[in-house]
Amino acid sequence: MDRELALELVRVTEAAALASSRWMGRGQKNEADEAATNGMRAMFDTVSISGTVVIGEGEMDEAPMLYIGEKVGCATSPEVDVAVDPLEGTNILAKGLPNALSVIAIADRGNLLYAPDMYMDKLAVGPRAAGKVHLDDPIEKTLEIVAKANNKKIEECIVMILDRPRHQELIDGVRRAGARVRLIGDGDVASAIATAFDETGIDICAGIGGAPEGVIAAAALKCMGAEMQARLCPEDDEERRRCKEMGIDDISRILTMDDMVKGDDAIFAATGVTDGEMLKGVRMLGGDMAETDSLVMRAKTGTVRYIKTAHRLSRKTKVIFGSGKVL
Ligand code: FBP
Repeated sequence: MDRELALELVRVTEAAALASSRWMGRGQKNEADEAATNGMRAMFDTVSISGTVVIGEGEMDEAPMLYIGEKVGCATSPEVDVAVDPLEGTNILAKGLPNALSVIAIADRGNLLYAPDMYMDKLAVGPRAAGKVHLDDPIEKTLEIVAKANNKKIEECIVMILDRPRHQELIDGVRRAGARVRLIGDGDVASAIATAFDETGIDICAGIGGAPEGVIAAAALKCMGAEMQARLCPEDDEERRRCKEMGIDDISRILTMDDMVKGDDAIFAATGVTDGEMLKGVRMLGGDMAETDSLVMRAKTGTVRYIKTAHRLSRKTKVIFGSGKVL
């Protein structure tokens, strides 16, 4: 994959973030998601890839665009797998809360795990603790390992966990160990990635969230030399059948970074929609100006670029908001 692609992908997440930010705090998560999807899909027509959506907005019969199997991009090569979440944290955005993102990951064709929409148990840690943790260790042991690797006392460590009843035991374990918990309402892509950025102060992201989100986060963590381990959590026979269909015969097995993102040629891009740990959200600057913060990273080189972009919205209306209709 051409390295210039990294910058092309940022335009895609910027478009989705700009479009959905207009719905911030309006309590209408479906409309926000639709706006993000429209913006992202339109911008894909300008990207020089022959892409196939492997993680997207749903199956072909469920989603009008960015559905699994949809072809995106305007070139005949490189052939790539595309994983998108135009708006990660639809509830967050609808409520105007922090950490909503627009994200995309691409890798050579066949290199991303085609994770169906089901739950996944995940453990993410930053680069210094990578290779040292195990998904099945009790959280107390994981905290000891990560604290040592990150050169912190256990009581200085922070574990980010989705605030769900299913995580009560995990939360109790963190507190028993003397570490600190940051509970989030939604958005475990941002929290997994935060473990790889020292300035966030987040050491571990643990618990059960969406499987598609897990693969997208794994692509970002791979670029950073960080680690995620995961296990699919099918809840019924249909979900178990889908795991088998993906070639995962032993559903109980731990998925490694290479199971989720093969090889070292992945690119990840994200644009902040609302303010978050690593990125500020979209700012409307008055007139027809808006500003976005994005980051883009490549696994091959490990380079992380932060991109602040000033947008003149009137000139982008057609592409981002479709047929000139802004809201
Ligand atoms: P959406 O953006 O699709 O609303 O997903 C938000 C999210 O919080 C993810 O970040 C997370 O992986 C998943 O939902 C958790 O699912 P649940 O809300 O069912 O616990």
